[in-house]
Parts: sequence; C-alpha cells; structure tokens
Amino acid sequence: MYVERHSPYAEVSSALSFLTRLDGDVLWNEPLAAHSTFCVGGPVAGWFRPRTSAALVEAMTSAERVAVPVFIVGGGSNVLFPDERMPAMAISTERLDDMNVGKDEVLVQCGVSIAQLLARLHEQDRHQLDFLAGLPGTVGGALIGNAGTVDHWIGDAVSKVQVLSEASLNWIGVKPCRFGYRTSDLAKWRAVLGAKLRLNGEPFDGEQILSCRRASQPIGAKTAGCVFKNPDDRSAGWLIEEAGLKGYQQGKARISQKHANFIENLGGARSAEIRNIIDIVREKVYKFHRVLLELEIEVFDGWTREVVQAKPSGGDL
Ligand code: EPU
Repeated sequence: MYVERHSPYAEVSSALSFLTRLDGDVLWNEPLAAHSTFCVGGPVAGWFRPRTSAALVEAMTSAERVAVPVFIVGGGSNVLFPDERMPAMAISTERLDDMNVGKDEVLVQCGVSIAQLLARLHEQDRHQLDFLAGLPGTVGGALIGNAGTVDHWIGDAVSKVQVLSEASLNWIGVKPCRFGYRTSDLAKWRAVLGAKLRLNGEPFDGEQILSCRRASQPIGAKTAGCVFKNPDDRSAGWLIEEAGLKGYQQGKARISQKHANFIENLGGARSAEIRNIIDIVREKVYKFHRVLLELEIEVFDGWTREVVQAKPSGGDL
C-alpha cells in the first residue's frame, strides 16, 4: 500500500515552525470548533495568538513568504468553519485586547470582546455604545461586519480604524471604511487592528436592548447570530418562517424555533449539515418569495475564506 510520507497538512505545520520564535503562542492541530460560537470546525495546522500587532504582521508576512494560507479569527461568532482539516494558519486576535477610555473616545484593540468593551465603559457609567449590548464577538469582527441592531451600527461611532496595508499599520478615517448595513470595506485591508470609537453620542438603554434580544432570539444556543442579511426592509427571519422552514432539522443542526434566521447546533452538528440547511433556505425562500437571501455569516469553502453565495436553481426542492 502506498503511504504518503509528507501530507500537505504536515508540510504546512513544518513550514510554520517560525511561529515559535514570534511574540505569542502557537497551538498545533487546533480544533476550530473550540473557537466558533457554532462549535463546529475541524483542526487547523497552526493556531497563533500574537501578543503584539507587530507579531501579527510578522506572522502574516512570513506565512505568505512560505505560501501558507492565513486567516484571522476574532470571536468566531460570525463564521462557519469546514469539518475538514485546514492546511493553513489561523491568527487569533484574543491577546490584542488593550483599551484606553478617554473623555470623548475609547481606543480599543481588535481582540477586545464587545462584552469586555461595554463592561469597561459601564465602570464609568458610559452607555453610548450600549446598542451593541448582547452581541457576541470582538471589536475587529464587529467593525468588518458593521455589527449592531437594525438601526444602530458600530460604524456610526467610528472616528478612526487602524488597518494593516502592505507591511505598515495606518489609521484611516471613517469615509474609506464605507460602512453600510452589515457591511464595510475593511475586509479589503490585510487586517484590522483597532479603532477609536466616539463616546460623545446619545446613551442607549442596553438592558432594554438585551431583553428584546432575549425575548426574540435563541440566546445561549450554539449559533452564529443571524445567518442572512435582511433584504430591503423585510426580515429574513420572517421570510424563512413564511417559507415553512422554522424548526427544519438536518442531523444535529436546526433552524431555530424562536427566530428562523438562526441555525442552532443542537450538539455535535457537522459544518456540512449547517451548510446544507443554508442552501435549502436560499432555495426555498427564492421559490416562495422570489427573494435571494444574502449571507451575513462567512462560510469557508474548503480552506479559502470566501463568502459562498450558492445560486438557487429556482426549481422545486
Ligand atoms: N420574525 C418572524 N419570524 C422569525 C423572526 C422574525 O416573523 O422567525 C418577524 C418578527 O416578528 C418581527 C420582524 O420579523 O416582526 C423582525 O424581527 P426582529 O425584530 O427579530 O429583527 P430581525 O430583523 O430579524 C435584526 C438583526 C439582528 C438584531 C435585531 C434587533 C439582521 C439580519 N438581524 O433582526 O441582528 O439583533 O434586528 O435589532 O439585521 C445579527 O445581525 O446577527 C443579528 C442578530
């Protein structure tokens, strides 16, 4: 029997040996399920947690030199990793978690979680960013996806964002970020490292926002938040429910009974099951409403990071 002596996976791990010399720590063969709020995902060859922005830049640059694919993971709350092993390097922003609260602004690194950010601001009775209450994930991910409620987004509070372009870190203003509903142009940069968020706006009632979320969303379940963007002024959840899919289940993955724009991992779901449900939802909603739902979450296709927008056939299921 032919036995492959050097699998691409093993080759990638050895190409990433430079990581041990950088300022941070590295885990080999790390299960991505442990870093995803969906709790799904197979192992990645290298999982690197830089302690400084400089180490992140060096890791990215060195990985590119040895032609190893790289992706950055914040809170893992808006992403569907694949079941298969990934011959790649994941950079976790977990340790890039400094923040500095000033009079009118907070300077925050990308790896700070939304919960940490709000908790620090609450110590000073500052509630201007409370429209983010209850959001999972980190500041970096929230900026890229312009997270928030339907009416208030993190982009509204941005004064500057620190991005990595080529090999240098730069601060850019709000205009080039091109924030829109659940979108921005920030993913075009190599990385988002931090932001200055304005604290001089109106305060919000975080408790009230949280209790609305608790009443209408499956908080506490293993989900990635809303899976699809709302098309125009309609709720994707409503469209999915009307198409008869609430509670639809494949294996251990199910469309939430509470809010149809959430897919829950009931325990031990595979990424492929969630992916199948996504395809079925898009097909059925298209057939029923003639509306093509666009993904809000990022779906990895193989080991490349691409938002996969399957094309509905328009035919019967
Ligand atoms: N609805 C249904 N069935 C459902 C879900 C919702 O009929 O299964 C109806 C509701 O009854 C309501 C309407 O649709 O009349 C809107 O629902 P909801 O208030 O839950 O808001 P949403 O549009 O579904 C959006 C954001 C949420 C955010 C909430 C509250 C998107 C895709 N979703 O949900 O954001 O928390 O408003 O501001 O923009 C997220 O982005 O991950 C997310 C959870």
